[in-house]
Amino acid sequence: MKTVIGIAGSLRAGSYNAALLRAAAKLAPADLNVEIASIGEFPLYDGDREAAEGVPSAVAALKDRIAASDALLLATPEYNNSMPGVFKNAVDWLSRPPADIPIVFGELPVGLIGATPGKGGTRLAQTAWLPVLRTLGAQPWFGAQLNVADAGRIFDREGELVDSAFAEKLEAYMAGFSEFIGD
Ligand code: FNR
Repeated sequence: MKTVIGIAGSLRAGSYNAALLRAAAKLAPADLNVEIASIGEFPLYDGDREAAEGVPSAVAALKDRIAASDALLLATPEYNNSMPGVFKNAVDWLSRPPADIPIVFGELPVGLIGATPGKGGTRLAQTAWLPVLRTLGAQPWFGAQLNVADAGRIFDREGELVDSAFAEKLEAYMAGFSEFIGD
């Protein structure tokens, strides 16, 4: 069984990206266990705090989970044609201290997906993550793209996936990502 840590970059209870991540976990192939992690307890990055106390316990715990996992799946919202600050802040914390970057992110397969009620499907936010992932030495998967536009049509009010054509696409994405991760 392979373990993927899934993170949605939104703190909203009704987040489309959290809904997308839950759907991805459900539709993943049988040998892929997607564990959904939260960044809700992460404070704003503060170098003084880090110097005094090190990384907060919620950050340290997620670093350990990622380091022990086989891959990372990021469900990114798009804010002002880029990634949301709350999500970048989380990854910035996860990259501290720099000596741990190869342990946490080095050669880690990363899937990028995203949902928006808008028309662009988070393409620009997903692209904005690429230089970050390159800096961290991770391996983004480029074998398929998953861009959810018009998310209010794909998910119902409870965040359940209600579009069967999209469900097939998501299932295929997860199967391809699993192949990329390997055994
Ligand atoms: C947005 N939104 C947005 N959507 C988009 O497709 N492109 C964009 O550039 C932006 N910009 C943007 C800026 C800010 C500050 C906010 C708050 C929102 C809308 C965004 O996609 C929408 O709020 C989603 O619902 C956010 O994702 P979650 O929280 O549903 O996962």
